[in-house]
Amino acid sequence: MIGKLNHIAIAVPDINAAAALYRETLGAQVSDAVPQPDHGVTTIFIELPNTKVELLEPLGEGSPIAKFLERNPDGGIHHICYEVDDIDAASDRLTQKGLRILGDGEPKIGAHGKPVLFLHPKDLNGTLVELEQA
Ligand code: CO
Repeated sequence: MIGKLNHIAIAVPDINAAAALYRETLGAQVSDAVPQPDHGVTTIFIELPNTKVELLEPLGEGSPIAKFLERNPDGGIHHICYEVDDIDAASDRLTQKGLRILGDGEPKIGAHGKPVLFLHPKDLNGTLVELEQA
C-alpha cells in the first residue's frame, strides 16, 4: 500500500542555521523558508535525488513541534512521510488493523497542499508516520 518515501522531517531550533549547514557544508539544494502559520511551523525543503528532507522550525504559540524540541533541544528526526495512492482507503485499512490516526481521524490538507494524516508512533515502532496522498 505505501509507496515512495516523500520526505523525512527534521525539527530544528534554528531553521536558517540548519539550512546553511545543508547548503554550505553538505552541498545540498535548499529552498527558501516558508512560514506556515496554519500548521505552526516554518518549513524548508532540501531536494535530494531520491527524496526530500523537510526542516521544521516552530512558528507561533502552541506549535505542534514545540514539545519535541523541548525534549530534543538540538533537533531530531520528527516524522517520516510515505505516499499512498488513496488516503481514504489507507485510513480505512489501517484503522481496521488497529492503528490510531492522530487528531479527529480525518485526513487534513497538509503543509504541501495535499491530504495527509498522521499515525500514532506507539503503533509504528516509535516512529511518527505521515501518509500523504500522492
Ligand atoms: Co511532513
